[in-house]
Amino acid sequence: MNGQVSLEKWSLWINELSDKNYVVIDNFLNTDCYKQVTTFLTAHIQNFKQAGIGALDQNLINKDIRGDATFWLDSKRDMELNLFWQKVEETIDVLNRECFLSLNGFEFHLTKYPPGAHYKRHLDQFQNRNNRLISVVIYLNEHWQPGNGGELEIYDNEQIINISPIANRCVLFRSDLVEHAVLTSNTNRFSLTGWLLHKPAALGKFFT
Ligand code: OGA
Ligand code: MN
Repeated sequence: MNGQVSLEKWSLWINELSDKNYVVIDNFLNTDCYKQVTTFLTAHIQNFKQAGIGALDQNLINKDIRGDATFWLDSKRDMELNLFWQKVEETIDVLNRECFLSLNGFEFHLTKYPPGAHYKRHLDQFQNRNNRLISVVIYLNEHWQPGNGGELEIYDNEQIINISPIANRCVLFRSDLVEHAVLTSNTNRFSLTGWLLHKPAALGKFFT
């Protein structure tokens, strides 16, 4: 069935997501799809731009808060990623069906943390733009080893969960509830990061 995973697997992941607000899924993309993503990453390695914080006109650059660089993707333009876009649609369909969500959009970027970069503890929903419902991070680090740093930390009540950014590991979490941070990376650390959205958005601006 065109690379889709079984509903049984999805049910396990979804149960975990609804119990804990996050789930870690190893080997998330099939081989062809993962290859598409890494080929695309290699082709666009020069196109990353320093990331900011906040939506639209509040997009401030502060490397003390976040030091990564991003390359925003466009599903219409970036058709070489067709298998990945199919996976995103599959994920949205399953979550809508099984979790009674009303996801109807997504946004994704490739991300690079150069040595020394980190991202301080934060929530993914912007203060004035709350349409990000589920965060998706897929790691692309084939040779990651302990000591390379760049682990994702998830703050789960009193507990800190430490997640290594190993190749083809996916973390899904509630964008509105799960506080998290990226520890300082000692090597180049790559990921494909995005958000499943409920639109319409407030266009990042409220009249005040
Ligand atoms: C983010 C983020 C986590 C990671 O981009 O908002 O928190 O592990 N990423 O890259
Ligand atoms: Mn985040």
